Amino acid sequence: MAIDISKVPSPCYVLDEQLLRNNLRLIDRVRRESGAEIIMAFKAFAFWPSFSIFRECGFDCATASSLSEAMLARHELGQPAHTYSPAYTDAEFDAICQCSSHITFNSLSQYERFAPRARAAGHAISLGLRINPESSDVATALYNPCAPGSRMGITAANMPAELPADIEGLHFHALCESDSTDLQKTLGAVEQRFARWLPKVRWVNMGGGHLMTRKGYDTDLLVRLIRDFARRWGVRVILEPGSAFTWQTGVLVSDVEDVVENGGISTAIVNVSFAAHMPDCLEMPYKPRIAGAHHDPVDGLPTYRIGGNSCLSGDYIGSWSFDRPLRVGDKIVFEDMIHYTVVKTTMFNGLTHPSLAIWDDAKGLRVVRTFGYDDYRSRLG
Ligand SMILES: Cc1ncc(COP(=O)(O)O)c(C=O)c1O
Repeated sequence: MAIDISKVPSPCYVLDEQLLRNNLRLIDRVRRESGAEIIMAFKAFAFWPSFSIFRECGFDCATASSLSEAMLARHELGQPAHTYSPAYTDAEFDAICQCSSHITFNSLSQYERFAPRARAAGHAISLGLRINPESSDVATALYNPCAPGSRMGITAANMPAELPADIEGLHFHALCESDSTDLQKTLGAVEQRFARWLPKVRWVNMGGGHLMTRKGYDTDLLVRLIRDFARRWGVRVILEPGSAFTWQTGVLVSDVEDVVENGGISTAIVNVSFAAHMPDCLEMPYKPRIAGAHHDPVDGLPTYRIGGNSCLSGDYIGSWSFDRPLRVGDKIVFEDMIHYTVVKTTMFNGLTHPSLAIWDDAKGLRVVRTFGYDDYRSRLG
């Protein structure tokens, strides 16, 4: 069964519990077969009312990249986080330690500045360094941590001859919506450039970007790569995918509010915004799929840009074709709008933020959060 859109208030993000469980089952299989620890990246998804589903499937650990994410891991998921930040701050570092089991430093200067405080935290924290393998197939510069001049991680040329004695792990993140063949290439670069340091560590975190729940992803190769790497170097492997957990697990439901014409272009204005509610569409950029629409314009069919309800002129994407003309009140359902959406939204323009809901085939729809003026006001003063 699928989400019954007629039951969903508009606008609303709806997470489909069954689709999430399917993803969790697949990731669990990879975890068991590979022996890797697989934790979820909150940067992609941190909709905590759904965490009981993750815990039921044995996923109770997360990677955090800020104090708030680390606190969410500790208090809402139930385990201290594996934390990595490009730059920890004086004001927040001790509180981060209280919520973390692993802390990875982006540079040696951050390690020197903060490691003594991690050692004094009162519980054991495993320390790591982020390395930069300088090899990535990620085509979009915005998402490429290995682009020339990147601030992400330490290149082999900048590594110390010997690792500091209390460094137990190395962390790299070089992939984005990638296949296991991409990981294979990255591992080649890591092994070639960092062979000198790998025998000295107990764990290697291979970051995120492993889109193992995408149709056609070769999970057998992933399992083999992890097992071989762990055996070759005598390390525990950790993966921290984000998108893979909630890939294609839900939608953003919206309504057409108006249709306007200009110079032969028809734009359907909806009650959500690309800029505020689907920011990756403009940043990446990419064109999302709309349920029931023709993704590419079809000659002879009614064809529209879809425009957001913000005042930003560029808040539109186009074009899609529909089997009949759009009218005010028609539903526009944007597909795959769970990862990197809810965590990235803003209240730009004071736009009404879409509600948050979970759909269960047996129990139906549970709206867990609605938003209003108080949410907008309280962010600003
Ligand atoms: C350090 C790190 N780990 C994990 C992730 C999650 O990546 P993804 O959602 O592509 O799996 C990211 C994404 O930017 C990241 O920067």
